[in-house]
Amino acid sequence: MASGNEEESAGSVSWRLIGPVSELSKKQCRLMHSSLGYGSDVCLFYVKGEFFAMDARCAHSGGPLCDGDIEDADGILQVFCPWHDYDFNLRTGQSGTGLQVSLPTNVDQPINQPTLLQTQNAMQSN
Ligand code: FES
Repeated sequence: MASGNEEESAGSVSWRLIGPVSELSKKQCRLMHSSLGYGSDVCLFYVKGEFFAMDARCAHSGGPLCDGDIEDADGILQVFCPWHDYDFNLRTGQSGTGLQVSLPTNVDQPINQPTLLQTQNAMQSN
């Protein structure tokens, strides 16, 4: 799997190759480590054939969102933090509690191509 060695730029946006869809889609959530440290890590979710990315740490008290349960509530995909069960919308990062996790990245959704993660820092998948 690639680990950020290839990069494309579009203006000030940086896209990093994080791996082939065939590999990344094997796990529902993958923790992407940031070169900026623990607080900048990202969860890469693969749910119902689509990739989503958001901060890896819960906006409440830093719980590990990659370990949360994912549910589809009337078409809205949410991850539930394993520590206190707060919900976060995978598309918006918003919680029904009023909190919000950042969506620091966008994920390209290519078919049969490597997936690219839009970010401004180096990341590695595990
Ligand atoms: S740390 Fe996530 S809900 Fe409390």
